[in-house]
Amino acid sequence: MGDLKSALPVVLDLTGRLVAVFGGGPVTGRRLRAFLDEGAVVRLVSPWVCEEVQDLLAEHPERVTWLQRDYAGPADLEGAWLVHTATGDPDVDTAISSDSHALRVWCVDATDSRATAASIPARTHVITPDGAVTVAVHGGGDPLLATTVRDGIDLALRNGGLDLRRHRTRGAGWVALVGGGPGDDGLLTVRGHELLASADVVVVDRLAPRGVVSRLPASVRIIDVGKTTGHHPVPQDRINAILVEEAERGHAVVRLKGGDPYVLGRGGEERLACEAHGIPVEVVPGVTSAVSVPAAAGIPLTHRGVAKAFTVVSGHEQIPTLPPGSDHTLVLLMGVSTLRASANALVAEGRSANCPVAIIERGYLPTQRVTIGTLADIADLALFRGVESPAVVVVGDVVRLAHDDLPQRTMTSSPGASTSTTSPTALTSTRTGV
Ligand SMILES: C[S@@+](CC[C@H](N)C(=O)[O-])C[C@H]1O[C@@H](n2cnc3c(N)ncnc32)[C@H](O)[C@@H]1O
Repeated sequence: MGDLKSALPVVLDLTGRLVAVFGGGPVTGRRLRAFLDEGAVVRLVSPWVCEEVQDLLAEHPERVTWLQRDYAGPADLEGAWLVHTATGDPDVDTAISSDSHALRVWCVDATDSRATAASIPARTHVITPDGAVTVAVHGGGDPLLATTVRDGIDLALRNGGLDLRRHRTRGAGWVALVGGGPGDDGLLTVRGHELLASADVVVVDRLAPRGVVSRLPASVRIIDVGKTTGHHPVPQDRINAILVEEAERGHAVVRLKGGDPYVLGRGGEERLACEAHGIPVEVVPGVTSAVSVPAAAGIPLTHRGVAKAFTVVSGHEQIPTLPPGSDHTLVLLMGVSTLRASANALVAEGRSANCPVAIIERGYLPTQRVTIGTLADIADLALFRGVESPAVVVVGDVVRLAHDDLPQRTMTSSPGASTSTTSPTALTSTRTGV
């Protein structure tokens, strides 16, 4: 038995190399998958195999030879670079281990990692923008300790707790167009967090999750190109140019956008601008406000027996081309300033004046507010309540499914919520006529 505390971790390239594997249970299944993923050729010796092993045999017939019997002595180890045993019989595992030792072949006894000189650490493989990283943790014979530490490092790598920027050698820059979701930090994807953890520069929109941005280290340069309605401080061409210039300086650039980059977000233009300059671009989808903001008000865009389809539009000029029934949900983004014209056009195009409408302002933010009416009265209600952008307008029967208790549900993690604007009373008063 080796001294596991002083074990030396070694990385093996198993491509095309023979691994002799003994046993056919679930432990073998997990390890067999790992060996095959690393390109090994496997000789499997076992009288029976579990379902997972069976599947792997079917997936890789050209790389696994199954000898359907018990261990038959050192001849079974011939030519192997590595041996793995998990037969479930300690005597057989010990025999395989000592025969391997005699032949100077490393042997992993999976059922007793202290019994052999080799063991496989808890592992994770994380793809960072600067390259793939394999983390291997050896817990001194305590697998639970090893997996706990491995999981901690994995999480830190993915969420930016482990800052990779300091270790980067300045090379070619890149751009990631990251969809930040509707504004709530929790609705940014794991991949978005990973890329932010590597960014030197973050180019941020007004509707991107600001909490995430505020927690970035001071060494990360934030370029705010946020737009407000009718006021575009940084034109799109300039935003494109910033992305290109920063990447050409060798910086890792995250363009953090609200919602999804490809839903009325000009992400396509930004990608093309980068590609035209030969800059590598990754696009990370985000949770679009078109779907999530209605959900924050309890409104599913489709609901069995109520609506089977939905359409997302950015302005009222598309309205003549839309299906007229209130069982087809319409979602209007950037629709506040044109709300009256949109409502009138929808009625003119055949929707009932009583068709329910919801306006959800600042979805998922502490000041979220919902106004509910009909096509006939929504514009007046919005004027009365001073409805402002950003807001998502939902038109259709699904609006009837909105939560009455919405403010409490969505505000639980938002201590700054304004009860005067989001109280159920205010919500109820706007629901008259629906
Ligand atoms: C330029 S579009 C960008 C849409 C974005 N790409 C997406 O997928 O959500 C901006 C519009 O999205 C909607 N929006 C985005 N975030 C919102 C939020 N948190 N609450 C309400 N509306 C939001 C508003 O209609 C706003 O005018």
